[in-house]
Amino acid sequence: MLKIIGTGSALPSCIKTNEDLSRIMETSDEWISTRTGIRQRHLCTTESLSDLAAEAGQKALESAGVSASEMDFILCATIRGDFITPSQACIIQERLGASCPALDLNAACSGFIYALDVAAGYFARGRAKKILIVCAEAMSHLVDWTDRSTCVLFGDGAAAVVIEPGENLLSIRLSASGNRKVLNIPHVMGNNPFHEMEHPPSYLYMNGQEVYKFAVNALTTEMTAAIHEAGLTAEEIDWFLPHQANIRIIEAARVKLGIPREKIKTIIDRTGNNSAASIPMMMDELNREGQLKPGMNLAMCAFGGGLTTGACVLRW
Ligand code: ACO
Repeated sequence: MLKIIGTGSALPSCIKTNEDLSRIMETSDEWISTRTGIRQRHLCTTESLSDLAAEAGQKALESAGVSASEMDFILCATIRGDFITPSQACIIQERLGASCPALDLNAACSGFIYALDVAAGYFARGRAKKILIVCAEAMSHLVDWTDRSTCVLFGDGAAAVVIEPGENLLSIRLSASGNRKVLNIPHVMGNNPFHEMEHPPSYLYMNGQEVYKFAVNALTTEMTAAIHEAGLTAEEIDWFLPHQANIRIIEAARVKLGIPREKIKTIIDRTGNNSAASIPMMMDELNREGQLKPGMNLAMCAFGGGLTTGACVLRW
């Protein structure tokens, strides 16, 4: 189906620690770090999401040793790009100087795995030889900064991969169960003077405890199923890349799956939850550190708004 030939990522320069947040709201480093594992997050202050997305995409192209003009398709996984239209993918295309079709895909935090599956379909139909996937999220634009129970959880960032046809995607699973009760972000409304319905504010709403239960279950069952469908056992996985929502979710799933801690990659302490960008960001970090060797098996699993899940096993 596909193989990854390059990775890249970009974070905003502004870092806000838990301590910084405790100066503007009723919270503490102790509360945030013990309940979530988050110590700091990067926030867009002088950068646009398009800046981060283009930087991550450019780095992935350089890492793959290919040019933007060689791309046959650009997919951007994002909850919300800088514009409703043009798509974030079209902006990335323009910034990088590519000329291929481009579109956005919204599967919330599961966006990277969904994008891999869409790309695999393009390869299967012979429609593309090289695809750029960029996951770009500016969650700081979507949370309510007066709601301490959600705004402390997220960060901004982008990560990208270049892929080509190959045999390295050993299994992939997607799911969605339409549910807007436990996690949603209402869209902005226009100024239609005839509009008569109530409209909630355009901020992230989350029932943390319900999402927590869903997340631990998704991480455990979907990761297990993806490994099984790849014809592997958990012992044969070299790296686990779980979505970075809460270290306690990851730890609960780790214990259930019986995985040694050193095989689980995490960045949540430094970045918070970057939604769709979290998993490819960790992949890029491992890749740049030289920790990914050919033949290694990577198991990835994400869960998020929708509610969606995505899990896959990829051979490096
Ligand atoms: N600082 C201090 N106190 C706080 C804060 C804060 N930042 N936020 C909430 N509190 C308080 C609450 O007001 C509450 O106080 P009370 O008992 O006096 O009412 C208390 O802390 C406990 O709050 P809970 O919500 O019960 O805390 P919980 O232990 O459930 O942790 C958390 C909350 C971290 C959000 C957890 O439920 C969680 O991680 N849920 C999953 C989130 C997730 O996975 N999201 C991923 C999907 S996101 C996406 O797809 C876009």
